[in-house]
Amino acid sequence: MNDFASKTVAIVGLGLIGGSIARGLRTANPQQRLLAVDTDTDALNEAKTAGVIDAFTDLQSAITEADLVVLATPPLLIEELVPQLAEQESVDTVFTDVGSAKSHITRCVEAQSENFASRFVPGHPIAGSERSGFAASKGELFFGRNVILTPLASNRRDAIALVHNLWRALGADILAMSVQRHDKVLAATSHLPHALAFTLVDALLEQEQSDDIFRYAAGGFADFSRLASSDARMWSDVFVANADATEAMLEAYIGKLQAFQQLLRSKDKDAMKTVFVRAKRTRDNFIHKHFNSGLESSMETEQLSLKVSPGGKVEGEIRVPGDKSISHRSVIFASLADGTSQVTGFLEGEDALNTVAAFREMGVTIVGPENGAMTIHGVGMRGLQAPRSPLYMGNSGTAMRLLAGLLAAQSFDSELTGDESLSNRPMNRVAVPLREMNANLTTDEHGTPPLKISGSQLRGFHYDMPIASAQVKSCLLLAGMYAQGTTSITEPAPCRDHTERMLEGFGYHIQRDGACVSIEGGGSLKATDIDVPADISSAAFFMVAAAITPGAKLMLRHVGINPTRVGVINILRAMGANISIGNERSIGGEPVADIEVSYSPLKGISIPQDQIPLAIDEFPVLFVAAACAEGETVLRGAEELRVKESDRIQAMATGLQALGIDVETFEDGIRITGGQMSGGEVDSFTDHRIAMSFAVAGLRASSEIIIRDCANVATSFPGFVALAREVGFNISEQKGAQ
Ligand code: S3P
Repeated sequence: MNDFASKTVAIVGLGLIGGSIARGLRTANPQQRLLAVDTDTDALNEAKTAGVIDAFTDLQSAITEADLVVLATPPLLIEELVPQLAEQESVDTVFTDVGSAKSHITRCVEAQSENFASRFVPGHPIAGSERSGFAASKGELFFGRNVILTPLASNRRDAIALVHNLWRALGADILAMSVQRHDKVLAATSHLPHALAFTLVDALLEQEQSDDIFRYAAGGFADFSRLASSDARMWSDVFVANADATEAMLEAYIGKLQAFQQLLRSKDKDAMKTVFVRAKRTRDNFIHKHFNSGLESSMETEQLSLKVSPGGKVEGEIRVPGDKSISHRSVIFASLADGTSQVTGFLEGEDALNTVAAFREMGVTIVGPENGAMTIHGVGMRGLQAPRSPLYMGNSGTAMRLLAGLLAAQSFDSELTGDESLSNRPMNRVAVPLREMNANLTTDEHGTPPLKISGSQLRGFHYDMPIASAQVKSCLLLAGMYAQGTTSITEPAPCRDHTERMLEGFGYHIQRDGACVSIEGGGSLKATDIDVPADISSAAFFMVAAAITPGAKLMLRHVGINPTRVGVINILRAMGANISIGNERSIGGEPVADIEVSYSPLKGISIPQDQIPLAIDEFPVLFVAAACAEGETVLRGAEELRVKESDRIQAMATGLQALGIDVETFEDGIRITGGQMSGGEVDSFTDHRIAMSFAVAGLRASSEIIIRDCANVATSFPGFVALAREVGFNISEQKGAQ
């Protein structure tokens, strides 16, 4: 019997949700002791006779007998019950609820004792139907559905874990949000639609000959009005519980209805079409993404191109999104820490969000991100749970390689997969040294993903890295935290050291001795807060943009200038760029500054090899700078660029040549002769940095550049196009099927 199956669960309220919880647990853990409390004796008897529950009881006995009490009553009743639950101070029972509004319950819980509040973990399964009562309940109701937890700051780790395990046993995907966001989101996506359905049916009822109207009502009415068949008691409670947020949504919606009324009055067909096209696209995308329905084939080929026209400017003051490398690491270390960490400035790009999803799947409660802020309830070094399905790392080599080291040391098995680009990237660079540590993992026959990992006890070792790779170094440091003895790694050239800095920030001792870093296994991490600086790799696009555009002057705020990342500044300065760095400060162990770049003519250079690891992600845009510089720029010793998200030497050479630039490639580099770029069409090869580099090129091209296949920009730089427009680029997105 697994640990959760040995816990007694009491369900208060045996309706649709409570009954479905009982049925689901009975199927998942047939031996688990399940109790129920309800005033409906018929439902209790039916559940007992069907073997869905072991016994029914009263509230006070449920609290003393159960390890976990689930409140599945209408929301206002939950609020009434809370003070009674809190009376029994001597027990260690954990509580959760399923209410679809959270502020009122949270307020009420927090008004009780600290001890009680530490054991009450609010939750809300986003599942249900217009049907109600125990008779409508079904064990698979939560399978593959989202459950939102809104943990309190005071929640105990074991209480959160127990509630997690409840929903895990029921097959749900577990998310977490702040209470305020939850109530706002639910007001928009559930409470408002229910209000509309109830009131629409009610409005039709008041029409003369309503019987006739209903007789002729076809599928549209049935679809739209389905929610009006929901339980009246439950829904009047929900609206009262979430009145403020729902009213705000309703207010906004009334505005939309009035605008539509105007369109009707003026019979403005085009304006209506614009609204409907936008709504249709939004809904189709949403259904595709979240329900994966039959729209798949048409959506898969949905394309995003960027169009950049000449004449753009680069001026003003901006802050680019958070650092990708630091964002990944903040999730990893905060998840493994003891205690709760707050992260701000987090990059809400697809890559880092996949890392968040992976840790959620492994049992970590992560609230957010909301505007870059997250609260991560760490589970401790040994607290991760086996993922129920392969962990999808999207486009991110960093996530896959770092997680490989961590997962190799766990007591469970796991599998890491990725998108097409990641599925072609080399993984032996981590698999081979990990095996030397006794790790048990396989790649496919080409040394590429998926990575299949069997957790094992690792041994410390020494590794001389053949390539300067922060991903490999970080992978081995993560493995080293769990290995017996010491793990030491020597790098052939300095590469980014965010892992080392973050380990120190979380109180894990490491030894740094020149090019060698060593770590002793068996330590622990103490939760800490992290402020993620703006990503210098994202800032680089705007630095080059300002450097190549006559008249440009741009201030980039709060940029991370870790010495292992500043190659782009060093190289641009060597080419003659005008860059000043001010307001230098240290934020959570990482140096940060404001960077001002203004136009000055650039000249070609031979790029010093020691700058390669320090500018490893910035070469695509540096090649654009080279195309705008006078004379030749030569890069050698950079074969690593061929195994990034695309073969970046080839991808840039192909694009620059299409724009009329003279380019010669080598296995390990490129020679670019500066000249006038023409317009034309280029391919991003689905690589975010290639796409953004050619967007920058558009500032100096003689005519329009179209960049194909740019959806991946969202992996590292959500909002790139908007920010580029803000500083003066003539850039737009073009959506459409291929
Ligand atoms: C990264 C390291 C670099 C870099 C990548 C992020 C990291 O890769 O290209 O975008 O966060 O550790 P390598 O370490 O493989 O050079």
